Amino acid sequence: MTFSGSLLTAIDAPLLGVNIDHVATLRNARGGRYPDPVAAAQLAVEAGADIITFHLREDRRHIRDDDVVRLKAEIQVPLNFEAAVTDEMLAIIERTRPEHVCLVPERRQEVTTEGGLDVVGQFDRVQNACARLAQAGCRVSLFIGADLAQIDAAAKAGAPCVELHTGPLSHAWWDNDVTQLQAELTRLKAGLGHARGLGLRTHAGHGLALLDGLRPVPAGAPVSSTALVAALPEVAELHIGHALIGHSVFVGMRQAIADFKAESITARRDGTIHVLR
Ligand code: PXP
Repeated sequence: MTFSGSLLTAIDAPLLGVNIDHVATLRNARGGRYPDPVAAAQLAVEAGADIITFHLREDRRHIRDDDVVRLKAEIQVPLNFEAAVTDEMLAIIERTRPEHVCLVPERRQEVTTEGGLDVVGQFDRVQNACARLAQAGCRVSLFIGADLAQIDAAAKAGAPCVELHTGPLSHAWWDNDVTQLQAELTRLKAGLGHARGLGLRTHAGHGLALLDGLRPVPAGAPVSSTALVAALPEVAELHIGHALIGHSVFVGMRQAIADFKAESITARRDGTIHVLR
């Protein structure tokens, strides 16, 4: 079934932040201008994306500085600028003034953002960054693991939002490891509840995917990782990139966004997912 973005946004569900980094990855593979991540962002907005997310990495492996300038000029929904806590990135963000910023850890060797930000271990640096970015008018989120000490530190550092890292849950899902999946889901729920108790707005993301018929359905968890997380009522935003762009290869970007939105709306509407038996 084909869904239209405008129909779906009327229903209470997590906002969908569409991460366009991997359109830039594809462009950069040939060193030219095609496919253009800004055009993809425009299409994503038309298809119902609530937020456009991108990560300007230190090594510029996907999104580049000129993409950031064009995104700011051309995209009409809030931009969520993911960046490491470095002076260079803070200065670019202050110039760009995106609506949202998500501070993430960054290691040059990693394939993707592997762990959460260590707010406890670099508290002063993160606290200063939160103050600088609030001054620039940006809503700041810290990308952290579902770890109570990190959540406490995030609140103390002055961030109004946290994005809890769903990578461990997603790995367990891809591995069909139902015991681990249950453990990660329990940990995520505890983290979300704790963060909400501290007055933080709570987001989630990393590695989330759909059951798209291309992956065998695991006996103990016959639902998608996106549905599992979207069903949790504390989740105000989901940020999804790799699997959404991957799904677009098969169904096109418009339909991919409709599919991810429909998945999270249905999961939220149905409430707690009867997943793991
Ligand atoms: N959230 C954050 C903070 C991220 O760094 C990423 C990856 O760039 C994502 C969400 C999206 O992860 P994925 O591409 O695995 O969906």
